[in-house]
Amino acid sequence: MLGSMNRCSRLLAIAFLMPFFLEPLSALEKPWLDTSKPVAERVTLLLAQMTLAEKTGQMVQAERGALQPGDVRTYGIGSVLSGGGSLPASNTPAGWIELVNRLQTESLNTRLGVPILYGIDAVHGHNNVYGATIFPHNLGLGAARDPELMEQIGRVTALEVAATGLNWTFAPCVAVVQDIRWGRTYESYGESRELQTLLTARLVQGLQGAQGTVDWLSGAHIVATAKHFLGDGGVLYETGEGSTTIDRGNVEIPLEQLKALHGQGYVEAIRAGVQTIMASFSSYQGVHMHANKALLTDWLKAPVASGGLGFGGFVIGDWDAMGLTSEVKGDYAAKVLNSFNAGVDMAMEQSNWRKVIEILLASVKNGSIGQARIDDAVRRILTVKFNAGLFEHPMATNQYSDQLGSAVNRAVAARAVKESLVLLKNDKKLLPLKPGAKVFVAGPMADNVGRQCGGWTLSWQGGFDRKVGKKVTRLTPGTTLLEGLQAQAKAGDGEIITDVARLAQASVAVIAVGETPYAEMQGDIQLGGKMTLDSPGRMSAGNREAIAQALDAGVPVVVVLVSGRPLVVTDELSKWGALVVAWLPGSEGAAIAEVLYGQEDFRGKLPVTWPRSVEDLPAAGSKTALFPYGFGLSLR
Ligand code: BGC
Repeated sequence: MLGSMNRCSRLLAIAFLMPFFLEPLSALEKPWLDTSKPVAERVTLLLAQMTLAEKTGQMVQAERGALQPGDVRTYGIGSVLSGGGSLPASNTPAGWIELVNRLQTESLNTRLGVPILYGIDAVHGHNNVYGATIFPHNLGLGAARDPELMEQIGRVTALEVAATGLNWTFAPCVAVVQDIRWGRTYESYGESRELQTLLTARLVQGLQGAQGTVDWLSGAHIVATAKHFLGDGGVLYETGEGSTTIDRGNVEIPLEQLKALHGQGYVEAIRAGVQTIMASFSSYQGVHMHANKALLTDWLKAPVASGGLGFGGFVIGDWDAMGLTSEVKGDYAAKVLNSFNAGVDMAMEQSNWRKVIEILLASVKNGSIGQARIDDAVRRILTVKFNAGLFEHPMATNQYSDQLGSAVNRAVAARAVKESLVLLKNDKKLLPLKPGAKVFVAGPMADNVGRQCGGWTLSWQGGFDRKVGKKVTRLTPGTTLLEGLQAQAKAGDGEIITDVARLAQASVAVIAVGETPYAEMQGDIQLGGKMTLDSPGRMSAGNREAIAQALDAGVPVVVVLVSGRPLVVTDELSKWGALVVAWLPGSEGAAIAEVLYGQEDFRGKLPVTWPRSVEDLPAAGSKTALFPYGFGLSLR
């Protein structure tokens, strides 16, 4: 209908349909606010009151920056997100709370007063927020293999998100990475179904609270998202979209294998009550997941009794992903419509949200989407909102604000750092470092909080500490390996040397090398890339020089690798005395030093196979690798 109208009458028609033009109901007219009724009944009562425009508004999520004042109210938008680095003017709990409450007030002033969910990528702690506790990225947590720790990390992350008044994180990523050239490798717990089974449910439980208890989605708990459904970690090299080599690519394994290897994280997340699942940018056998009805609707949402996963929450699209379903014939509207019909319930067409509403309205009118599909999507979205207690407590408060980045929270992160460390080589018992030793420390990753946090930290691609003269400004508060070593040496009457002129006085050198921060496709290894310490692309400048300088001086070297994945070290490993993998440890880098000095033993095990060369890739499960999956030494 709308398509055939001229612009003026179209705008008038949309205006007429919008929630803003209808009078707010009084509390007495809102029986769904009665908390003594079961959630399903409350949803039915509310749904029965909703106009089509009010329903379609719920089905879109807008980026904070793509909203004008009044839009949330005018269009009855279901959700707002902050993409990586999309921050309020004041990146503090107060700044976030003011932003959330401004938008929430608009939603409460619509006719029906349905609150918004505000989502963010709190994927290794509340990583967009200055001063938050930043945990190791998932691959390090896969090395730690500690379910109890996962629950604590979930709890702390939820608490810090609640400290800023937000109520939804797009985590955990339960990708099962098969090819470490994928730029999102570090977002995965590892290459096996075993790790997703072990870790996913406990993290979800930490974020949302335990289902069936009073904690469930109350207090400082938030809504979680398992992502990216399905098979994101199984994409094949050279199938990536656009400029990418692998990210957003295609998966080609048999269906049973796809479900068995890549589906387990979802089985676990659903078991723990995860409220939302994000569709993947990637494709399965040439069909984009946003267009994949067979997997989204006929498997994920189908009842368990008929072989499905029985997911009762809602499916959120990924960032502008609907329009990328190139196999769907027709224009943007056709692709968006097809995604909803395939089973996506809420679109993250973050700046096109208004257009998506128009498409939905027109499609219902011309019958290309059924009323039942709309009602199913909205029912799912409202169910999550009721479950999350949003109707009772829509407004953010500052009751948790002082807990952002607290010492208690950072102690959990420090523990995660220690447990994630993997010792791959330790010749002549070079480790542990002796308390009284003179230790030379260098390398681009030794003293930079930004680098050790990696991507998805303060901004999408991550960032660096800055040094002007002698003054260092950290990307976000935290401690580094160098600071940790200095503290240890001081306590043991040893000495840390950073002046190259005194290198020869040291009995051992600790050299921290690795990758520069990146996220998603920017981290893909380009065709021909070798993944060695000095390969062009994502490697930190000065890696090789820092190691060579110590070796040339005849000082035995402990290499600490700070990177989002294994790197190819085959040719130089024999020259190194010890090799420690620290992954991307986050804000508590000093904790690495405690293990290097032997206060605790190494206990991490490789969550991915370590290749000899890029020619071995994809290496998952390879028996001829440099180090097999599950490998890790200890000191004792
Ligand atoms: C990523 C998602 C993320 C979303 C919102 C996308 O680019 O694929 O993992 O949740 O952006 O920031």
